[in-house]
Amino acid sequence: LDDTEFKTWAVRAAAWGADYRADLSNHPVRPNIDPGTVTNALPPAPPESPEPMEAIFADFERVIVPAMTHWQHPRFFAYFPANAAPPSVVAEILVSAVAAQCMLWQTSPAATELEGGVTDWLRQALGLPGTFTGVLQDSASTATLAAVLTMRERALGWAGNRQGLSGQPRLRVYASGETHTSVEKAVWISGIGAENLVRIPVGGPRRAMDPAALAAAIAADRAASYVPAGIIACVGGTSVGGTDDISAVAAVARAEDLFLHVDAAWAGSAMICPEFRHFWSGIEGADSLVMNPHKWLGAQFECAAHFVRDPESLVRTLAIRPDYLKTQGQAAVINYSEWSVPLGRRFRALKLWFLIRAYGLEGLRSLIRNHVAWAEALADAIAREPGFDLVTAPMLSLFSFRHRPPALNEQDLDDHNLALTDAINRDGRIYLTQTRVDGRVAIRFQAGSFAATEADVMSALGILRDIANAGQA
Ligand SMILES: Cc1ncc(COP(=O)(O)O)c(C=O)c1O
Repeated sequence: LDDTEFKTWAVRAAAWGADYRADLSNHPVRPNIDPGTVTNALPPAPPESPEPMEAIFADFERVIVPAMTHWQHPRFFAYFPANAAPPSVVAEILVSAVAAQCMLWQTSPAATELEGGVTDWLRQALGLPGTFTGVLQDSASTATLAAVLTMRERALGWAGNRQGLSGQPRLRVYASGETHTSVEKAVWISGIGAENLVRIPVGGPRRAMDPAALAAAIAADRAASYVPAGIIACVGGTSVGGTDDISAVAAVARAEDLFLHVDAAWAGSAMICPEFRHFWSGIEGADSLVMNPHKWLGAQFECAAHFVRDPESLVRTLAIRPDYLKTQGQAAVINYSEWSVPLGRRFRALKLWFLIRAYGLEGLRSLIRNHVAWAEALADAIAREPGFDLVTAPMLSLFSFRHRPPALNEQDLDDHNLALTDAINRDGRIYLTQTRVDGRVAIRFQAGSFAATEADVMSALGILRDIANAGQA
């Protein structure tokens, strides 16, 4: 493409994006297609000669779009949201065009300095104390991996990176079963090993880890010559929003001199509303935390805000400084690649800057407050609906429920609810996902799409009733 053609196609792509979003509610949230549909539509070999952009774009609309699941759809109630609000999409278009690598201050001074500025805005917006410093990682999984690597190095007196793990004492990490799988993966990748991830039992309506059981597990491990390295707590677990008592867990971490990381990947966005901050009270006692503006705050993927109390420990764990990356005469600058696992980094701060300015914190708060209020109203309505049980009450905008036709045993109920979830998703008007609560299948619902209205959220009740009563499951 020459410059003129690039401009034509860039404008056309942006216009297509706006039309796509405006028309989304007329489409099924998830395509009802068979695996292999797209694979079979692709030519088996790449073209030897250039193809016209017109043909490429036509195939995008013909082959790709009908096979997409629409995460920006107003009735996307599955998983967690992945909102990409228009101002953040505009910023991403600019970032794609500029296409800078933002690994060092000197490879993109504006990106580095905006990252420092905008993560501090976010820190203030979340009500976090000035003792935290932020960095934008690609994903919560990476932030949690960085935290686990830091706890490993700290527990080994900074010898793990140098000497490897063989011959080192066996480390232990503690978390409840409500934490995301990224915690287990971080424990694998860091070489600590899944067998050394100690699962602490949960209790109470918040499904919070039991601090006494945590302290007892640590004591038992010390007595057995393991070396406890750290604790990972969660605020808003993926399954049904399990939320640890951060004050109580932080007290154990402090007493045991352990590193505490908090995964608030989804729920963290809600902390811009002061009335929800009780969910992470005591957060100032954490050593690090992650929340994903790319989930509920409207920042185009990927954008995970990782806040640390002691950047030196993170940098000591991840910085590697070959001659070709040295920045001469700029000792005081931050080189964010030293805070991350990958070297190369996208310019993630721009979309947060556009987003926060275009909505203002009040605009973002009112979206989140609406989602929570609408989810609570829907949960109430489902609890009153004959044949439906609420399984877990709303944690912010996430709750779970089950359809309970008469005379089914527990196993048949599980199968029935899995089939019902599938039937709902094949129908396409809404999109939901399933989980297990205490071993039994439940259907999750979360409201979080920036495009959703109260009517979209409440429409789920009639759709559930239709599909469950029509016996399509
Ligand atoms: C609680 C929680 N933590 C971590 C993650 C992983 O997030 P990411 O995709 O940014 O790695 C998720 C994903 O949904 C999550 O729900």
